[in-house]
Amino acid sequence: MRLTLAFAAALALLPLAAARADEPIVIKFSHVVAPDTPKGKAAEKFKELAEARTQGRVKVEVYPNSQLYKDKEELEALQLGAVQMLAPSVSKFGPLGIKEFEVFDLPYIFPSVEALRKVSDGPIGKALFKKLEPKGIIGLGYWDNGFSVITSNKPLRTLDDFKGMKMRIQSSKVLEQTYRDLGALPQVMAFSEVYQALQTGVVDGGENTPSNIYTQKFHEVQKYLTVSDHTYIGYALIVNKKFWEGLPDDIRAALEGAAKDATAYCNSIAEAENADALAKIKASGTVEFITLTPEQKAAWRRGLLRVHDEMASRIGKDLIDAIHKETGVSATQ
Ligand code: LMR
Repeated sequence: MRLTLAFAAALALLPLAAARADEPIVIKFSHVVAPDTPKGKAAEKFKELAEARTQGRVKVEVYPNSQLYKDKEELEALQLGAVQMLAPSVSKFGPLGIKEFEVFDLPYIFPSVEALRKVSDGPIGKALFKKLEPKGIIGLGYWDNGFSVITSNKPLRTLDDFKGMKMRIQSSKVLEQTYRDLGALPQVMAFSEVYQALQTGVVDGGENTPSNIYTQKFHEVQKYLTVSDHTYIGYALIVNKKFWEGLPDDIRAALEGAAKDATAYCNSIAEAENADALAKIKASGTVEFITLTPEQKAAWRRGLLRVHDEMASRIGKDLIDAIHKETGVSATQ
């Protein structure tokens, strides 16, 4: 059962100073995916490092699989202080009024993980984190998941095949526009509701990374998987600003180090975790794999790049141009 937000927040707002000196500071780290994923493993790594490096003065409680909160509630809970740490997909900041992170959802904006890293670890990533601060949130690092594939109950080989398909998306206007351009019917839905929606036909398909698809068993209730790699899913490791700034300096420094190392760990395992999950999905034999020919891939890319221009007024043309410059990709290619 989920905690009611108001009750959990009231508890959490008890000032740090009121905690007994011999009691550990508790960090509740909530997330929506399975423990056996890049994010799930990195959350556990943060716990291990944080507890060891603070000699037990900090206790990290990791709550995977939307046990505490679903997508949108999770961000509200962080802002209220009911949980202290999250690693939501950056696609989910739009409803907080921070639209710029949706730039990560533009189709084919990152030709590789290296190109993505240049953006997230450079001035652009830092400037985006600054936008979180007025919302009471501090960004500590960018965690990889990987490039998305599409699962569906009908074969999706060409962009025309999407017409009329009900597709689950994260709460991102960029993803919404992408599917609208294809004549599909995008449906925003919390991650924890996707399995049932796919199983019952409330939606016909969705995009996600192989590690999420495999661990949530989406492939068991879908017929096809198109290896499209058209969008990227990554996370922001974030903390409640008031909580973070209220920590004793030595504790905060130790936790910053743990966050940095957990970030490096996540980013070192994500690609292999997804390759492994894709192989396991294939081996399960439950879905037919659709591998696009180079011509089909090129046609997808040509057809979807227009979303970069269409979303410039929402996300900011300067931001999109800056990323194009950094990655060498442009919407007119
Ligand atoms: C989704 O909602 O599909 C993903 O953002 C879930 C996640 O956190 O990887």
